[in-house]
Amino acid sequence: MRIVSVVGTRPQLIKAAALQPVLRRDHAEIFVDTGQHYDEAMAGSFFDELGLARPDYSLGLGGGGHGEQTGRMLIALEPLLGDLAPDAVLVYGDTNSTLAGSLAAAKMGIPVAHVEAGLRSFDRRMPEELNRIVADHLATWLFAPTSAAVSNLASEGISGGVTEVGDLMLDLAARMSATLREPAALAEVAERLDLKLLPGRYLFATVHRAENRSPEAMAAWAALLGAAATADRPVVLALHPGTAAALSGAGIRLPDGVLVVEPQGYRTSLTLQLHAAAVLTDSGGVQREAAWLGVPCLVLRTSTEWVETVSGGDTSSVLVGLDREMAARELAARAPIGTSEERAAERARNLSLKGAGTADRISAVLAGADGTTGASGTAP
Ligand code: UD1
Ligand code: UDP
Repeated sequence: MRIVSVVGTRPQLIKAAALQPVLRRDHAEIFVDTGQHYDEAMAGSFFDELGLARPDYSLGLGGGGHGEQTGRMLIALEPLLGDLAPDAVLVYGDTNSTLAGSLAAAKMGIPVAHVEAGLRSFDRRMPEELNRIVADHLATWLFAPTSAAVSNLASEGISGGVTEVGDLMLDLAARMSATLREPAALAEVAERLDLKLLPGRYLFATVHRAENRSPEAMAAWAALLGAAATADRPVVLALHPGTAAALSGAGIRLPDGVLVVEPQGYRTSLTLQLHAAAVLTDSGGVQREAAWLGVPCLVLRTSTEWVETVSGGDTSSVLVGLDREMAARELAARAPIGTSEERAAERARNLSLKGAGTADRISAVLAGADGTTGASGTAP
């Protein structure tokens, strides 16, 4: 099958790195990057690090408000898809690039494959929730990562074309995991960042959600991170440039004990998570990775699409929103000072991640739809 993949943001480059080798083995892929993320640290560096092919088309359409950004992408994608005339357009997740890719394709009668279909936060104030609902309702193939996602789709009347395939990002995390375990992996990161980082003696954080960029929300999470940090256990915050700009626009200074670093590469992000005492984040990807790595994770949101990570007996993640007292309580319970060094060391020693085989499953469903083999996905 001739497939145009549309990406644009950091997590989509990461997901594409997991799928692309298999997609290119079985199909003809044309790789389109909208350029929604454009900084070297948010986008460029991932190509070399993850062995991702350079895009066949780089549209350079980052920045701007939602309507403007999505509109520019639609304007660029429509003629491009017309010229390329693919059999399918494949989109990942819930970003504006996904909205534009799926909408442009569907309006031209090109079948859409949606990876990470069916996720819902049930909060329509989130731009991502709107994007994923539209993408799911336009898609021909819906690749759901979890059984909860399959149920969400069923309750919206979507069952044809749905396949539960597991989580693509687990494939990549598993591929990388053998290189993270040794304390030397953390020592190398610490040296590069010029920080003193010992296993279990720091907290790792990321914050980028739109709802966490209002002045009130930023003041609240800044105070929460400041309260979580101690002299012996600082917070390392890998700061998204959009959040950095919002903080500086609102004149908010982060408390002492919160050590801000640039966005990091994928392997560094996993390394910083694995060896931390705990992770604090509003990222969907980091939340899942922390769960796979077994690191306690405080989710700086009041809802999540990844319900499995915060329910059930063996979970180490918890939704704390921006509630400072709750965060302090949960941190004390899940990563008590005094034992977190030993727990982090044990976690790293025992790390053994297995891939979900998701890339192979997605590719096989698409190959089946090509008319060659049977598949659970419904062909157009
Ligand atoms: C986007 C996605 C979000 C995803 C996140 C991953 C949407 C609606 N949101 O949010 O679902 O979780 O990516 O990180 O698509 N900026 C830079 N340099 C960059 C990229 C962004 O400076 O390389 C700044 C710009 O000021 C930009 C702002 O960040 O306007 C927001 O970027 P944008 O891509 O619109 O949304 P994200 O917040 O990154
Ligand atoms: N990530 C990274 N560098 C960082 C922070 C995160 O490589 O400094 C990775 C992280 O490990 C995960 C992905 O980016 O694989 C998550 O992307 P992001 O948090 O931007 O978006 P979300 O998952 O919330 O859509």
